[in-house]
Amino acid sequence: MASTLSPTQSELSAALWSTHPSVDAMIKRSLLGKRASRSLTRFMIIFGIGVAATLACFGGIVAVALTTSVYTFGQTGSAPVDPGVRGGPAGAGAPLQGLTADEIAFFQDGQARFADVEVVTKGSNNGLGPRFNSNQCLSCHSQPDAGGSSPAQNPLIAVATLNGAKNTVPWFITQNGPIREARFKRSANGASDGEVHNLFVITGRTDAPGCNIVQPDFRPAGNPLTGQGGNPNIIFRIPTPLFGAGS
Ligand code: HEC
Repeated sequence: MASTLSPTQSELSAALWSTHPSVDAMIKRSLLGKRASRSLTRFMIIFGIGVAATLACFGGIVAVALTTSVYTFGQTGSAPVDPGVRGGPAGAGAPLQGLTADEIAFFQDGQARFADVEVVTKGSNNGLGPRFNSNQCLSCHSQPDAGGSSPAQNPLIAVATLNGAKNTVPWFITQNGPIREARFKRSANGASDGEVHNLFVITGRTDAPGCNIVQPDFRPAGNPLTGQGGNPNIIFRIPTPLFGAGS
């Protein structure tokens, strides 16, 4: 961005000295590129094309001043606009191009394990508990495709009470809000902590008979979406997309 907005002094001088009738169009085309041209057009409308011609008489020094103005205007002139959710295919989550057959098999094996749902006992994947945040990698890393981030509907609400579990859904986990992991700044005795404290426990699940481990207390509650006003000892983390890490 900076390079397209920062023509050298000689480039700009050359454009200004030109006898071409549409000096601003030339500058836009040759020096600034498409993205800056709208800002520059507004700049030129405000100051008038005549100003550009006058500036030409002052040569290099003014050219530098103009460069600075255009640059500043390009940075601040148009307010950023949130385009909303991007449509079309995800364009992510596939293996890298050009893998060998072995590497593709390795990728597919990892991808399948990523989608395995874990239980405590007597299933085909007994990897859950006694404290956990969810029961499947894919549940948290799924948007816009496997390996991504938090999906639009939060899966943790169902996970909290799955298979008879008795967890309270923490105040910062909401249906349309992000998946969050909770790190504690300090532990109960005041020592530096920083670790992830799992949201849920397996107590009550039919596949965990006799387990009485207790869920952490994440209160006091704050704003469920922003987290503001809540327990100041908690720092939140949302799922990092894994694209580029082999998925
Ligand atoms: C409860 C939701 C949840 C589940 C389930 C989950 N993750 Fe994550 N993952 C996160 C969050 C949140 C982070 C960011 C952690 C942080 O910054 O402290 C993360 C980060 C990561 C990272 C990036 C780590 C880094 O330091 O850059 C990897 C890799 C990852 N997860 C892989 C996995 C795999 C593999 C599984 C399944 C075994 C899994 N995740 C299951 C929520 C989840």
